[in-house]
Amino acid sequence: MLLSLARSKRILFFGGKGGVGKTTVSAATALAMASEGRRVLLVSTDPAHNLGHLFNREVGPRPVRLAPNLDGMELDPEATVNEHLEQVSSSLRRLMAPHLAGEVDKHIELSRDAPGMQEAAIMEKIADVVALAARDYDLLVFDTAPSGHTARLIALPEMMSAWTDGLINRRDKAERFSSVLRNMGTDKSVGNKIFGGNEKDPLANRESSIRSLLNRRRRQFSDLRTAITDHERTSFIIVLAAERLPVLETIALHGQLRRTGVKVGALVVNKRSPADMGDFLKERRAQEDVHLATLTEALPDLPRKELGLAAHDVVGLEALQEFALRLE
Ligand SMILES: Nc1ncnc2c1ncn2[C@@H]1O[C@H](COP(=O)(O)OP(=O)(O)OP(=O)(O)O)[C@@H](O)[C@H]1O
Ligand SMILES: [Mg+2]
Repeated sequence: MLLSLARSKRILFFGGKGGVGKTTVSAATALAMASEGRRVLLVSTDPAHNLGHLFNREVGPRPVRLAPNLDGMELDPEATVNEHLEQVSSSLRRLMAPHLAGEVDKHIELSRDAPGMQEAAIMEKIADVVALAARDYDLLVFDTAPSGHTARLIALPEMMSAWTDGLINRRDKAERFSSVLRNMGTDKSVGNKIFGGNEKDPLANRESSIRSLLNRRRRQFSDLRTAITDHERTSFIIVLAAERLPVLETIALHGQLRRTGVKVGALVVNKRSPADMGDFLKERRAQEDVHLATLTEALPDLPRKELGLAAHDVVGLEALQEFALRLE
């Protein structure tokens, strides 16, 4: 069921609470698709990366080969934030008068730890990957950070474009204001004093370079939004354990995603206790069944895949291949 869903999509997101098996299930799905001959890119967006641990090798911000047809990469939020702030800082410096450079630095330093900064940076990287990797890969598999975080990320393109739209409007006003200043009689330097212009780098050019930067980001986010809300192309898979809180969080996450236009294609209930291995596990399984009944009641039509608890952790390519056999 999971693999037939994967076969029909080009972008898969795996999300869910911490430790439920997102990395394991997403990597096994990616591996299964790669072994069928599709070119697959597995991307970890969780700042606490674990693709490297799973595949027993270093995985970084550029794609590395993990298996035939399968590449993997880990997005680095901190490096992305730095890159992003550098870009914004140089744009701001060009916009402001030189004596305000200290103010720009202060503003940038404060922004570094602003709420949402890492999320925005990751979202920008996801947008890059979706835009660029579509040429080289048939399927993108995103292993995301634990639930609340993920839903915020997914909702972010909308927030981000609202944010850039706001900035663009403000630039529009500033542009009109500066053109009034520019036309105020003979002293053309009034506008330049305020906006820090000089003869070599006229105000108008600067305005339009900032504008094109903002427009490019807006387009990027709206393209991402289009991609992740395209139900033909993209599906979100929630991984969970059959426990009370994960079930309640899954129902909440499903609602959040639906409100943002993202389709949940399947639920994976991982680490199910066996019913035939002693009274203790039998009782545990009965308890799990109670929680799963709540899930069925809330989300009756959602395809669901159950995976049993294995005796060992899933580490390395061979273990992953074996795990992948259970996904059909
Ligand atoms: N069905 C299973 N049976 C036994 N162990 C499993 C199973 N699925 C996953 N595991 C193990 O559970 C641990 C957590 O799995 P995994 O790292 O995939 O979870 P995660 O949701 O990605 O965690 P995090 O939120 O920390 O990223 C790993 O040690 C993994 O090998
Ligand atoms: Mg993980």
